[in-house]
Amino acid sequence: MASSAASAAKPHGYVTKGIHWLSILLIGYGYLKGLDSVHQLADPALFRFEVAFALALGLLFALRLFWTQKVGGATRLPKEAPKWEHFASRIVHYGLYGSVFTIVGTGLAIAYGYASPALGDLFINMMITLHEAALTALPLLIIAHICGALWHKFIRRDGVLESMTGKLPI
Ligand code: HEM
Repeated sequence: MASSAASAAKPHGYVTKGIHWLSILLIGYGYLKGLDSVHQLADPALFRFEVAFALALGLLFALRLFWTQKVGGATRLPKEAPKWEHFASRIVHYGLYGSVFTIVGTGLAIAYGYASPALGDLFINMMITLHEAALTALPLLIIAHICGALWHKFIRRDGVLESMTGKLPI
């Protein structure tokens, strides 16, 4: 029966695909530009840029969540796929959203704490610890996500990878 499932998954729409690939660019850029120390926020131009970048990333992911849940449709994983695949896919997707929202939320809290010294070092240090934990978790989740996509491409051959990439030459 494997052949009937081959390439069966309905493609994601252009908006979902566009947001997906744009968020990859933003996240990649975020890691490349990274800050080495909270004291770099003393530069007002950099401070403004970091806040604007965090807001843009947070809004993009909020829009993405709204769009996939309410308009474009969420996962293309076939209903008849094994339960463990549904479970793994849900955990990784929650993890991806959770770590991005944590990075954005704690990043904004760090900026707020930096601009309001009355909040004290404890607050800012807690936010930095959470920020760094989420920055470590996200690449691990992305690796798991890409392994999942390759699993569908080469083992299941059910069209789930192509639902996001379109037809591939391989
Ligand atoms: C080369 C890298 C990537 C590939 C091949 C890939 C592939 C895919 C595929 C095939 C889907 C559809 C899964 C389904 O319908 O259940 C998907 C969805 C998703 N991808 Fe990726 N992805 C990549 C990178 C990323 C990165 C870096 C993120 C960062 C957060 C990400 C976040 C998501 C999320 C959250 C979904 C769930 C659908 C949504 O809410 O938009 N992906 N991806």
